[in-house]
Amino acid sequence: MGKALEGVRILDFTHVQSGPTCTQLLAWFGADVIKVERPGVGDITRGQLQDIPKVDSLYFTMLNHNKRSITIDSKNKKGMEILERLVRHCDVLVENFAPGALDRMGLTWERIQQLNPRMIYASVKGFGPGPYADCKVYENVAQCTGGSASTTGFRDGPPLVTGAQIGDSGTGLHLALGIVTALYHRVMTGKGQRVTCAMQDGVLNLARVKMRDQQRLKHGPLTEYSQHGEGIPFGAAVPRAGNDSGGGQPGRILKCKGWEKDPDAYIYFITQAPVWEAICDIIGEPGWKAHADYATPAARLPRLNEIFGRIEQWTMTKSKFEAMDILNERDIPCGPILSMKELAEDPSLRATGTIVEVDHPTRGKYLSVGNPIKLSASTSEVKRSPLLGEQTEEVLRELGYTAEEIAALKQVGATAVLKKAAAE
Ligand code: COA
Repeated sequence: MGKALEGVRILDFTHVQSGPTCTQLLAWFGADVIKVERPGVGDITRGQLQDIPKVDSLYFTMLNHNKRSITIDSKNKKGMEILERLVRHCDVLVENFAPGALDRMGLTWERIQQLNPRMIYASVKGFGPGPYADCKVYENVAQCTGGSASTTGFRDGPPLVTGAQIGDSGTGLHLALGIVTALYHRVMTGKGQRVTCAMQDGVLNLARVKMRDQQRLKHGPLTEYSQHGEGIPFGAAVPRAGNDSGGGQPGRILKCKGWEKDPDAYIYFITQAPVWEAICDIIGEPGWKAHADYATPAARLPRLNEIFGRIEQWTMTKSKFEAMDILNERDIPCGPILSMKELAEDPSLRATGTIVEVDHPTRGKYLSVGNPIKLSASTSEVKRSPLLGEQTEEVLRELGYTAEEIAALKQVGATAVLKKAAAE
């Protein structure tokens, strides 16, 4: 079995998280991803949140699998010549620098098209065109400006950001889809194009159901939100809904046995309408099956606090895994709150390659999250991230440079830190 994107060459000019997430996905599918890094420095995340001194951080290693690293100083004339050769050599250029950084280097879209009309030029920026187009953006800024934070948390608390990196990794995913779409378009037309994803747009796309609710508000209260049952009126904008389900089937996070000591002894429980009778049997309320106050979804909506309170009395008598087993037998949708420790140790995630152990020359063995997208006719393996500049000479040779030229490029600081002249 081959790899789906074998033969596609990516000039990876990304750093931190959003861009690297995108190019890592493409690399997992077999694209040759050549990551350009500044000599002596590299992607800033190599040195961020280091758990082992002087060893590439997990932040970097977990976002840069299967890539090759070449060091090039883009502000050096000879360095720019190498970059231009790479633009001719590659199919896709991916970058996520602050707005205008690539233009300032001289790599404008016009110049890229002159060099390679088939090139797909893909960028992540914080915002699309508009008042904030020039702003730098990190994960939590995107969560706040994309509508996620204003709708996350409890009604009587401040806005909250989520642990899932929907701004960075989420936008990287969007960009990867844009790139393969543009590659397909290029197969049909022979032409490259620009692909841009704004992090604000990516988060808003993921928060789509809250924009749905914003419009529903005009026509009355959001009856599935707990605050409706509590008699609290809605304001002009979608409120934070705690752990209420975002869909049409009410759900909550409920305590399980051991919750007093274990911060993750909880289960998400959904009172899906078709299994309501099974729920009544399990929690010991068979009378609720036919009772006018509980028998229909509409009757239950104003009583969700009371109903979930009663269900929680039952879940508190079971561990989250016991509750999961009992509820699954009756097809009741639910899910234990799994800690990162539990996920890291989960044998089924290891078996599918979603959690993988990777060996690294300076760090040793570490765990990573593998490719979550499984293809039936294409393999995908997780290989360690490159050391800074590990493949510089290898890539230069592929670009046609001779051994002498490679040495000269190093000498003039195009691919290595320029050595200061010794004091006279
Ligand atoms: N050689 C020489 N210079 C290089 C280089 C190389 N190989 N690679 C990058 N640089 C330079 C750039 O040209 C730029 O220089 P300039 O400002 O003089 O033009 C500089 O390094 C740094 O770029 P910048 O993107 O401004 O870095 P930053 O650390 O200040 O900002 C972000 C980081 C993430 C805030 C910013 O890049 C950004 O907003 N990106 C877009 C949105 C995004 O992806 N955010 C999420 C990141 S996970």
